[in-house]
Amino acid sequence: MKTRIAIDGPAGAGKSTVARAVAKKLGLAYLDTGAMYRAVTLAALRKKANLYDNKVLESLTAGLVIDIKSAEDGQNIIYLNGEDVTAAIRLPEVSRHVSIVARCAEVREILVQKQKEIGRRGNIVMDGRDIGTNVMPDAEYKIFLTASLEERARRRMFELREKGEHIELEQMIKEIEARDKIDTERECSPLRQADDAILVDTTNMTIAEVVDKIVDIVAGRKD
Ligand code: CDP
Repeated sequence: MKTRIAIDGPAGAGKSTVARAVAKKLGLAYLDTGAMYRAVTLAALRKKANLYDNKVLESLTAGLVIDIKSAEDGQNIIYLNGEDVTAAIRLPEVSRHVSIVARCAEVREILVQKQKEIGRRGNIVMDGRDIGTNVMPDAEYKIFLTASLEERARRRMFELREKGEHIELEQMIKEIEARDKIDTERECSPLRQADDAILVDTTNMTIAEVVDKIVDIVAGRKD
């Protein structure tokens, strides 16, 4: 069987953590597509490229070698031209610019082609913004994860604090809101719930509860 699970949703809804745990429980591979957009953004920032010039972004992306491997714990390890950039792509500077890069149709075309190729192999959990609508529209299971803006900002703030980055909640809310706005309003495959996706609001749920809920959905158990 070719189990494909698409998990989409806005920033801080818990997609990456949940998707990785679901993949582990079900013995499936995991692909974090956001990491690919982050890797391109990191490369563009390092080159001081003009993020508003689609042609510049296209040639930059076409020249990059992005490799993704799975660590023991299932986390994706991202290599940019051979360099491990797993930690660097999570820096706030990258988070602040990634949505500008991700709205570029030319960048999306190059990355989506790669993602579709991986999706065709099956037995995978993929998370992102356009997985159920565009990358794997025929996935067997589609989940749309969300949570209130404040809760999502709070989670992201604590995540960053653990890494030694201090950002106030108000600031975090503004940054996440700005990213959501660009992601939902862009022309090319904007963030939206696929018509056949199941909505899971994680505002008052623990990670374990969300994981169990998705595993139940896949197993065909009703709540
Ligand atoms: O983990 P977080 O929710 O902060 O974001 P991410 O999954 O790492 O994605 C970072 C950014 O990449 C998003 O805000 C989108 O702008 C873009 N993205 C996208 O456009 N399409 C995807 N399939 C995945 C990410």
